[in-house]
Amino acid sequence: MTPSASGPHIAGKLGLSDRIFAGPRSRKLLATVEAGLERVDRALERELRVTDALADAASRYLYEAGGKRVRPMLALLTSQLGDGANDDVIDGAAALEMTHLGSLYHDDVMDAADRRRGVPSAHAVWGNNVAILTGDLLFSRASQIMARFGDRAIRLQADTFERLVLGQMHETVGPQDGDDRVAFYLQVLSDKTGSLIAAAAQAGVIFSNGPREFEQPMVTFGEKAGVAFQLLDDVIDLSADPDETGKVPGTDLRAGVPTMPYLVLGQRTDDDSRALVAEIDAGVARIADGADPALLDEPLARLRDHDATQATLDLAHAWSNEAVEALAPLPDGAVREALTRFARAVADRSS
Ligand code: IPE
Ligand code: IPE
Ligand code: MG
Ligand code: MG
Repeated sequence: MTPSASGPHIAGKLGLSDRIFAGPRSRKLLATVEAGLERVDRALERELRVTDALADAASRYLYEAGGKRVRPMLALLTSQLGDGANDDVIDGAAALEMTHLGSLYHDDVMDAADRRRGVPSAHAVWGNNVAILTGDLLFSRASQIMARFGDRAIRLQADTFERLVLGQMHETVGPQDGDDRVAFYLQVLSDKTGSLIAAAAQAGVIFSNGPREFEQPMVTFGEKAGVAFQLLDDVIDLSADPDETGKVPGTDLRAGVPTMPYLVLGQRTDDDSRALVAEIDAGVARIADGADPALLDEPLARLRDHDATQATLDLAHAWSNEAVEALAPLPDGAVREALTRFARAVADRSS
């Protein structure tokens, strides 16, 4: 796919555009956001160039593979609370998307994920070292962009990145004795995913010189919508149609990375649930010893159909409702309506 072909219809791949901008008063907003997404992509193309040929190819690789551009879309939406999508908003949104992109290079190494955005993961193409260094390069580039906008922007970038990294770290290390595993994991989701989505929602207000009193509601909104988004990511990990998601179903659990449906299953005390947990754990241990990951196909299909997965979906809807409640201070209108639909759509998606 050429970069320009991945322009305005990216969000449409998720069905996001259709759902967020439904209704007559959203039509103008849709055109504004789609034009903004085009500009963000042009900024990304520009900022992802590196003189070194290998670094250039590796840096552009996942960008060119696709992606939904959820974070830029949110920044563009909240920028409508201020002066709209000025050049600073576009570059800020590009920096946050680049941060997200960099985190994907690292995440696929950590999760031993073979595919991303419908193509082999970067580490599958170039090996772990190049994948990790490319992620680092993208983080540096994102910081360079933010540094152009002064202390406040670079502080937002650094604080967000710290939370993202600590979220990934806590997920990796896992809960300590006495920690509530579900509460611990929700904090992981807030940190690794909510932080960046909250930053995107806040950046739209900051970079468009929007009213200061809208910043905190947008942070809360983004954080809660981000957790809902990541809870769906966990469900999608179980039920993914690879053609739609570009990922291999069950990647996380097969690699022993716990996800919410598995943790909820672990809270159940009936015999069937306990047996399924034991089967999954035994399968993960065998895979770690080199067995074929397909041995978990059947247990993971049972987890997908288990009520623990429905409970995860219910939890995602609860977080999405809380995101919508955070919009209360915003004036009634197309922007608030689109944000409401955004929160509903991220908790009800299949890719
Ligand atoms: C994937 O994010 C990683 C998570 C934080 C869940 P996205 O689902 O937004 O990935 P792309 O950008 O569309 O590929
Ligand atoms: C990704 O989380 C979070 C970050 C990249 C910070 P996951 O590992 O759950 O996301 P996917 O499923 O690989 O996209
Ligand atoms: Mg992953
Ligand atoms: Mg991960």
